[in-house]
Amino acid sequence: MSFPKGFLWGGATAANQYEGGYLSGGKGPAVADALTGGDGRNGIPRRFICELADGTRKEFGGRDEIPAGAKAIIDPDVYYPSHVATDFYHHWEEDLELMAEMGCNVNRLSINWTRIFPNGDDAEPNEEGIQFYINVFKKCQELGIEPLVTIYHFDCPLHLANEYDGWVSRHTLEAFERYCDVLFTRFKGLVHYWLTINEININTNFMMNGVHEHVSNKQNAEQCRYHLFLGSAYAVKKGHEVDPENKIGLMIAHGGSYPWSCDPEDVWAELDTAHHFKWFYGDVQVRGYYPAWKVLELEREGIEIAKEPGDDELLREGTVDFYSFSYYSTDVCAAHPEEHGATDGNMHRSIANPYLKQTEWGWTIDPLGLRISLNQIWDRYQIPVMIVENGFGAIDVREEDGSVHDQGRIDYMRTHIKVMKDTVELDGVDLMGYTPWGWIDVVSAGTGEMRKRYGFVYVDMDDDGNGDLSRSRKDSFYYMQKVYKSNGEDLD
Ligand code: BG6
Repeated sequence: MSFPKGFLWGGATAANQYEGGYLSGGKGPAVADALTGGDGRNGIPRRFICELADGTRKEFGGRDEIPAGAKAIIDPDVYYPSHVATDFYHHWEEDLELMAEMGCNVNRLSINWTRIFPNGDDAEPNEEGIQFYINVFKKCQELGIEPLVTIYHFDCPLHLANEYDGWVSRHTLEAFERYCDVLFTRFKGLVHYWLTINEININTNFMMNGVHEHVSNKQNAEQCRYHLFLGSAYAVKKGHEVDPENKIGLMIAHGGSYPWSCDPEDVWAELDTAHHFKWFYGDVQVRGYYPAWKVLELEREGIEIAKEPGDDELLREGTVDFYSFSYYSTDVCAAHPEEHGATDGNMHRSIANPYLKQTEWGWTIDPLGLRISLNQIWDRYQIPVMIVENGFGAIDVREEDGSVHDQGRIDYMRTHIKVMKDTVELDGVDLMGYTPWGWIDVVSAGTGEMRKRYGFVYVDMDDDGNGDLSRSRKDSFYYMQKVYKSNGEDLD
């Protein structure tokens, strides 16, 4: 059997990296709107400009620890890439038509929480924001495209981050629950596929979840994780209550991993990393409770999570319908990592794998690792699986005639889709669909750059905000069109 009929083929984006329209139509600021650009290949991080508790100003790297009481500000003299991004807000009709032309039948996009509730916790939702998404979903319907909506993708409302320590606080969880209520009731019948929290497993800092002191204060990190799990479970439960047709999935940065050698110490290092990095998050959201090793670890570390009556039931009742994940590269784990050379990866660093090549940003390219990951997930959970991010971040050149010759990206896509086909045909994994990342160029989440492009559609916009935002089809657009229209049969 090859890809089943009705297999979901599409592309993925996130509002904070794509939508722009910062403060338009009643939108409020999110943490992503306070993040500057950076330069990934030269080690220059994205930054937050903060006002400290004593009134002084200080800058912090996006993934650095932000001290308690610091508030991120938006300086009118600084360039922030999310404010315009690649302007889906004003190009949505054109972009959705391009998606349909490419042969997509699914569109993974996220809703900007602050377009629905400008501060995150307002008394009433913003009708103009709701209407924007209704228009988008109706257009999708017209074009035969199913929306796959990420409820929360790296865009904690700035107000909740600055005033409440983001997801550390129960207040943020409660605000999120109200946000979910609005989404499920107002978009009922227009959206049937949902993802709860994007990459829930790399989500404890200020950049992702508005958390201060995420390293020095382990209690904060664990409390944030716990609230995210409850938020995800609430979304699943509520979504099913409002419309039993809803299919709701978790989303994890999968990152396959290998032991450096067959030395049991290295093998244990890999298992221990995999437990902490990904399986913990899958186990809680698929099984509905914390695994024993995690409960014991929290006890050993003296961390007591603040819970409320009904929480345990909610976790058990809010288990997901499917497992979705991002897959870009794989990691290597060793008992003594300092003895081996390091490289970059999706939001974290790892040991370089001597058998594999890397992108210009140091991300390992490993198609077979995708087959290994799909099998591991399926073996462990036995629920449908979906790859909701995968792709090749690279510098592209648009020629004078508008063409972009991105053969490297085509090779990346071909080798990964070939492996997906093997996984379906030979391994029997229940794979639902595929939405490669940044099907159209968007701002990089990790580095804030535009030059790190993933798209099959080029957008004229550079790292400093110059460009007319016009769209052009890259060579990969035509390649993906052929793949999608042949339901994954024609991969040459
Ligand atoms: C994932 C995110 O981390 O990877 C996306 O869900 C992100 O938001 C993607 O853009 C690629 O990472 P980057 O840093 O290259 O944009």
